[in-house]
Amino acid sequence: MEDAKLILKGKEYSLPVVEGTEHEVAVDISKLRAQSGAITLDSGYGNTGSCLSGITFIDGEKGILHYRGIPIEELATKSNFVEVSYLLIYGHLPSKKELKEFHNQLTYHSLIHEDMKKFFEGFPPTAHPMGVLSAMVASLSAFYPEINYQIDVEMNIIRLLAKLKTIAAFSYKKSIGQPYIYPKNNLGFSADLLHMLFAVPAEEYEVPKVLEEALDLLLILHADHEQNCSTSTVRMVGSSQANLFATISAGINALWGPLHGGANQQVLEMLEVIRKDGSDYQKYIDKAKDKASGFKLMGFGHRVYKNFDPRAKILKASADKVLSQLGVNDPLLDIAKNLERVALEDSFFVERKLYPNVDFYSGIIYRAMGIPTNMFTVMFALGRLPGWIAQWKEMRDDPTNRIYRPRQIYTGNIGLKYVPIDKR
Ligand code: ACO
Repeated sequence: MEDAKLILKGKEYSLPVVEGTEHEVAVDISKLRAQSGAITLDSGYGNTGSCLSGITFIDGEKGILHYRGIPIEELATKSNFVEVSYLLIYGHLPSKKELKEFHNQLTYHSLIHEDMKKFFEGFPPTAHPMGVLSAMVASLSAFYPEINYQIDVEMNIIRLLAKLKTIAAFSYKKSIGQPYIYPKNNLGFSADLLHMLFAVPAEEYEVPKVLEEALDLLLILHADHEQNCSTSTVRMVGSSQANLFATISAGINALWGPLHGGANQQVLEMLEVIRKDGSDYQKYIDKAKDKASGFKLMGFGHRVYKNFDPRAKILKASADKVLSQLGVNDPLLDIAKNLERVALEDSFFVERKLYPNVDFYSGIIYRAMGIPTNMFTVMFALGRLPGWIAQWKEMRDDPTNRIYRPRQIYTGNIGLKYVPIDKR
């Protein structure tokens, strides 16, 4: 494709143009500073491509999401989370043998070192499980150091995928004062996680199929979403060649924020506030439109989707199905549907293209499944792990990768002199 031309202070510069397989176009400005002394400015990286990637494709205008070229709708109905994890990390659908071997490895490595149980004991019962999760993941680096990149890293990928659910479940059990339930090798990935969360040693617990299927769907829908805040954090930290566990721990912390993965907890808390306030959802729509209130409709809006988030569409249907199968009649689901209906007709939301995002309905499903609100973002992290790993691996395996180092335009003071403290 023909180069782009930029005229800066009367001088013309040629900038190469890059085109992706879905015909997305980018102007490569990487040599611009060397040629002209100028950088590009893009606060919040809203229009900056930070990498070339073959993992996930999103068309936010059309509401399209593909993992490795396969539409999310197909994966959500035909695949399972372990297979999707393999697809994201290794770049292709596994054969029967590959999938069996991968599943066996995730089962075999799911125990955590017994010494790590002492770490859980040190946290207060009120600790947020996301803080515990990130601390535990960083701590894994003490048990499994990466000495040989090729050998240790591939194994650490498996270890992390296998152990994260055990860590998540242990942190939940600790927070409610129940004994830890160890992983069970005869269960599938999602069933094992639910078993570790809900079983108690005194009783037999069989994981209901409806819960297992609902969780698997939620994990698939969260598995990757290209260069969002947490994934870019993973690439940023990983670019310094920090080890896998330190890198993913940073991603978990980025996900925790209420504008990102923490929104699923906030949505539920918001719906609860509306319910306690007499279910007057119109009042909260008006509040969200009033900028001075500082209130946002949590679970609405997205940096990339300017059409319906395809994940939210799937989850809305799933919420109805799961709640009816479980016989749960949740007034929060009605409030959520009313909020969505009113917002989608309101010019404030229509003009700004604010649609429900993935977090809007996921919390309602988690709640119906019996998962406590403060564990919602942990469930998101479990789903997003294969995506983080795939993006990190893609970056590490790319010989052209360099440490991430954005530039800035300095707008502070100039030419000041130091004044000693007694003269200020
Ligand atoms: N409620 C009310 N108004 C909103 C909302 C909302 N949820 N989201 C955006 N707006 C408004 C903004 O005030 C802004 O209005 P303006 O143009 O008059 O100034 C306009 O819509 C554009 O919003 P920005 O904040 O510029 O959009 P940005 O891309 O920076 O932010 C974000 C996207 C963070 C998701 C935002 O929509 C938001 O805060 N949503 C609520 C939190 C949430 O649900 N986060 C989860 C996102 S999905 C995920 O990470 C898994």
